[in-house]
Amino acid sequence: MADAAAPLMTRLAANTKVGYSFEREFYCSDEVFAADMEQVVGRKWTMAGHVDRVRQRGDYFLFKIGDEQIIILRENETSVRAYFNVCRHRGSLLCTEDSGHKTRLTCPYHAWTYGLDGALVAARLMPEDFAKQDNGLLACHVRVFFGLIFINLSVGEPDDFDATFGDLAPFLDFHGLEDAKIAHMASYPTTANWKLVVENFIECYHCQPAHPEFCSLHPPEALIACGAGPSSGPAEAVAAYQPVLEAWEAHAAALGRPIGTVDDGPESSHLRLLIQRTLRDGFETETEDGTAASSLMGKRLGWDQGRMHLSFTPVSHIVADNDFAILFFFTPRGPMATDVDLIWLVDGKAGDYDVGKMIWAWDATTKQDKVITEHNQAGILSSRYRPGRYSDQERRVITFQQWYLRQFGLVRAD
Ligand code: FES
Ligand code: FE
Repeated sequence: MADAAAPLMTRLAANTKVGYSFEREFYCSDEVFAADMEQVVGRKWTMAGHVDRVRQRGDYFLFKIGDEQIIILRENETSVRAYFNVCRHRGSLLCTEDSGHKTRLTCPYHAWTYGLDGALVAARLMPEDFAKQDNGLLACHVRVFFGLIFINLSVGEPDDFDATFGDLAPFLDFHGLEDAKIAHMASYPTTANWKLVVENFIECYHCQPAHPEFCSLHPPEALIACGAGPSSGPAEAVAAYQPVLEAWEAHAAALGRPIGTVDDGPESSHLRLLIQRTLRDGFETETEDGTAASSLMGKRLGWDQGRMHLSFTPVSHIVADNDFAILFFFTPRGPMATDVDLIWLVDGKAGDYDVGKMIWAWDATTKQDKVITEHNQAGILSSRYRPGRYSDQERRVITFQQWYLRQFGLVRAD
């Protein structure tokens, strides 16, 4: 653990109880946020985008996380690179637009110029003993996996990517994510700590009061049992829903869908989650009337009335319907600031698709989540806030909190 934060984190963990929300400082302290970035988020593989954002050589976009800005750039047909957006001269930002196209990266300050491979190719009037070859851009770990771009801020070797995520390959392949194209992107910057954004997304206790559109698409018993993942609901509700789930799985498997569940526990490195289940009767996809917004995606043989929710980490999620998929990025920016960005993908060969119809459910749902999460943050700042008891439908939040504390070597007190 970072030495400076160790006493604080240990005290906070000692003051918290399993089954109760966290102490206030977990959600607003500068010190906790710095520790989160160093010890938790900064050490994980984090989804940063999709290759459709960088199709052509020289295309780039910025991924901003904590105080870091990462330039994600297409170097050539086979290589996507990631660099810290920091000039090796005196540290200026190199790229100041959020996305664009470059043949070279020229610093706006004194015009040091770097190639797409990160090498410093020009620096005017430097002393004779200056070695350009020692002043290339600083690389960030990056990996493209079925069209999804992941970065890892670790200084040393990060967790082995394939060992961490390799078993998810059949699901990503089936959904055709590699060849998908972006239909729509939207941002919902949220004035709340990243853990509140995550905790909200991994419980469906709030779905019924907060999300009328979302609830209209899903069987109520599924939302109670596993609305936010395989272990998000009460055990009895999960058991009661199991036969329905198994019948649908047999139907979906016959239409090509790989069947399986991932339900990582607190001891895991990335707390992954994967659940596939059926929509409400008569719905083919998550649109207002349940009819398609685009053509079938990926390797499907037919419409199977199902959907997938996959988490790579608590801050990186996919929801995939039969005809579109949504990437969710919950990116910590400050102690009470989280970027919430969504990318809607359709099949690479999709012709006509209806963006308005496609975004109807999750645009509304994410706007609602922004409001309720910001209210949650504001309430927690009150002097009268005390950790409150979780319901049986918030089991995944408890798992998340146990996982989070373990990143600091701490186990939550009973
Ligand atoms: Fe970039 Fe000087 S800071 S060239
Ligand atoms: Fe929600």
